[in-house]
Amino acid sequence: MEKLELKSLIKVCQTEELSPEERHLIELAIEATGRSYAPYSKFSVGAAVRLDNDIELSGSNQENAAYPSGLCAERTVLFYAGSRYPDVPVRMLAIAARGTDGELTDEPTGPCGACRQVILESETRAGAPIHILLYGRKHTFITEGIKTLLPLSFSEF
Ligand code: THU
Repeated sequence: MEKLELKSLIKVCQTEELSPEERHLIELAIEATGRSYAPYSKFSVGAAVRLDNDIELSGSNQENAAYPSGLCAERTVLFYAGSRYPDVPVRMLAIAARGTDGELTDEPTGPCGACRQVILESETRAGAPIHILLYGRKHTFITEGIKTLLPLSFSEF
């Protein structure tokens, strides 16, 4: 039997190592946590994108009493970007979250599986990997494209 080893390379950065553009987008994601509607989980997520035309948008998780009807921050902002600027590629995405104590999480928050699939489609539309920043107080993870987080992805049928 052959074995296939899947490797992902993710940069682990301190704030000082981030570019001004990266820090700014993270700030927008952090700000967006304040507009989260999360009365059920009390876990507030913010996501921000920078488009190819330099427009920045942000979104947050929006929950609902019928739980599956809510939406994650990443999909909120990506679907908004797609509906507002359908032909403009998404270049950069930042994600930040506040735990149930209301504090920004120490560790970066990774997007859920469904959001990874949606990020993948945004990359396909953009024709290029998205620069993804996962913020945590201790460090920020940076990955070029979602494929590091979504190996063997579903993309065609
Ligand atoms: N959530 C996000 O907004 N993004 C993620 O990637 C993970 C989870 C939201 C969904 C729900 O409102 C809350 O966080 C707890 O799962």
